[in-house]
Amino acid sequence: TTKRLTAPEFSARKGGEPLVCLTAYTTPMAQRLDSHVDLLMVGDSLGMVLYGFDSTLPVTLEMMIQHGAAVVRGSKQALVVVDMPFGSYQESHEQAFRSAARIMKETGCQAVKMEGGREMAETVAFLTRRGIPVMGHVGLMPQSVNTLGGYRARGRGDQEAAGVMADAIAIAEAGAFSIVLEGVMEQIGQAVTSRIPVPVIGIGASAACDGQVLVAEDVFGLFSSFKPRFVKRYADLGSEIEEAAARYAAEVRGRDFPGPEHIFGAVKKHG
Ligand code: KIV
Ligand code: NA
Repeated sequence: TTKRLTAPEFSARKGGEPLVCLTAYTTPMAQRLDSHVDLLMVGDSLGMVLYGFDSTLPVTLEMMIQHGAAVVRGSKQALVVVDMPFGSYQESHEQAFRSAARIMKETGCQAVKMEGGREMAETVAFLTRRGIPVMGHVGLMPQSVNTLGGYRARGRGDQEAAGVMADAIAIAEAGAFSIVLEGVMEQIGQAVTSRIPVPVIGIGASAACDGQVLVAEDVFGLFSSFKPRFVKRYADLGSEIEEAAARYAAEVRGRDFPGPEHIFGAVKKHG
């Protein structure tokens, strides 16, 4: 039996071979990805990718728990991290612990992730000291789309760049075992990675990061509402699904499906 990668083991891989991370929301996707990745991220991006919301804000704790449990059931070696959704941790340390404990208990995942910089550092410390490994998420923070005014890359000016660095330092010092760094200028990706003692996992950050993460549906061409610059498509499964659906429709309409091999006690056709 293969043993699951733990948060401390993941953390210890700072500076080594790049860490491979992908999102997964379902059992079948987790089963396909598990042996290829170090970490499976049950991201709250599922609100946009699976549920069709136009931001991640409507995602609930119950949704994250159901999808987190499905991904744990579909995997056996990857470290499974579940996102804490908007509104489930920002109010107080206690609220954050209560939400994170529910996620851990009801999914069997190994860690949670929360967005936030200096303002969330005490919360990260509170959870970590009480037995919950936390992954940070700084730079572009999609749950803050309304205060940021959009999804543009962070750190264009010196002041904003210094802010992202200060956020990453605060979250690492608070005890996060790793940090996702999203949507920042390449220079910041490099600087944060060399300054922070835990693995920095980039998404639209830099190839110099300790690892990379992408949304699986983006990678496989299953989500095409929009394509951020940082996405690379490795397959076009969306087109394959459309072609297969068209062939199925044509065969049903033409009475070519089902064929004799798909039915029970087929009656021989005459004439
Ligand atoms: O929600 C998500 O999928 C994420 C990862 C891309 C880091 O936060
Ligand atoms: Na997320």
